[in-house]
Amino acid sequence: MNIQEPIRTPKFLDWDELVQEDKVHRLIYTDEAIFQEEMRKIWGGVWIFLGHESQIPEKNDFIRGKLGLRPIILTRDSGGKIRALYNRCTHRGSTVCREDKGNSKSFACPYHGWSFFNTGKLSGVPWPEGYSCDFSESKFNLAQVPHVKSYRGFIFGTLNLDAPSLETYLGGVRAPLDEWLDRHPGGTVAFCDANRLKFNGNWKLLYDNSCDGYHVIFSHRSLLAMENRQKVGADAAKGMAFYKNSPDNGPMFLKYFGNGHHYKDKRPALEKRPGALWEIEGPHPGMEHYEEKLRAKLGARADEVLDLASSEPININIFPNLHILGNHVQVSQPVSLTETDTTWWGTSVVDDNDQLQGCADDINALRMRTQESFPNFGELDDLMNFEQIQIGLTAEEDEWVYMHRGLGINDRITHAANGTIIAPSTDEVFLRETMREYKRLMSVEPNLAIKRDPN
Ligand code: FES
Ligand SMILES: [Fe+2]
Repeated sequence: MNIQEPIRTPKFLDWDELVQEDKVHRLIYTDEAIFQEEMRKIWGGVWIFLGHESQIPEKNDFIRGKLGLRPIILTRDSGGKIRALYNRCTHRGSTVCREDKGNSKSFACPYHGWSFFNTGKLSGVPWPEGYSCDFSESKFNLAQVPHVKSYRGFIFGTLNLDAPSLETYLGGVRAPLDEWLDRHPGGTVAFCDANRLKFNGNWKLLYDNSCDGYHVIFSHRSLLAMENRQKVGADAAKGMAFYKNSPDNGPMFLKYFGNGHHYKDKRPALEKRPGALWEIEGPHPGMEHYEEKLRAKLGARADEVLDLASSEPININIFPNLHILGNHVQVSQPVSLTETDTTWWGTSVVDDNDQLQGCADDINALRMRTQESFPNFGELDDLMNFEQIQIGLTAEEDEWVYMHRGLGINDRITHAANGTIIAPSTDEVFLRETMREYKRLMSVEPNLAIKRDPN
């Protein structure tokens, strides 16, 4: 017997209707008005990753970026203060900075030549005698993001005057981030250059996938097959081979920390000894040459140092736009309802005190080569899925997107005393919890503001 589903008109912007415990409505991925609300309530309302301090190490350094769709200039001003200036001239609205990065004390608008110090203050207008106003009024200074803060080199900003402190916002996800940073000499990394990719899909499709252990063996089949061909011993497994057989029965797990942040750890399967991470590193060109060179130079210490070059099997996901995967940092950026940019920054080891005995350059060369494995091969599989979901979701009568894997199964999920949720790696609890947070954010009007410094 055929069971027919009547075609309904969903109640628009009824968040109890659009986001339910086990499913979300397709409109959250396809509706322009919802996208515009997200740019205000989420991309204005929570702490957004803007850049890394290593991208603007010196006074007057700047990079161009975005806060949601708002064009910004992230700069370390002449006094050394990090600011996120609106890249929007106070005269008639043109962008004042059209370079991706550089070093400048001021920005001159190319349209009529108004110029601004990198504190945001208007520094001059051409032929001021043609004006009767007082240009020292702060309304003529560039707008800026009122709250800009760093956490261990990662710079975030928010327009929300009622936002919790950045530390509070990050909450439990600080633990894996700290652990990841503290692997490195001095506890810091620098951003290098990046792979830049774009997909025709909504920004949430990337975030939805960021802790998804269910898709790996199917979506990345060819990459896994290539890695499995590189086995070096009976039990050895390379790269993402953790996912073969039944991943839920393996020692991997995911964690949900609140505020949309989550984490996948594939390392419990590893032996806790130097060199264990490097042994499972997926193949990439040139790795044997560097390994040989480092072993010759460092002897017994080489294993420990080579671990720094491995694309460590973890995913740290900080809502809504920052992901650490192995030694890469992925940043997502909505462009429109159905277009998203994604940038995979390579990171390099900073070894100011030469703890790596002159081997930092070789380790960093290896780390860059790992950009050729997952970011170049695996990510394309994912982007293709996101584009195909966006196409699938144009079918307006077929309304629901399900995320109920694991829901209702006793003892599958652990709730720790600190609120962290721990689940098998293929569970969709991270998605249900992120969507619960998304619904909370979309249901309230945040207290947004810009500021203009008078000086
Ligand atoms: S729009 Fe910038 S000077 Fe006119
Ligand atoms: Fe994937």
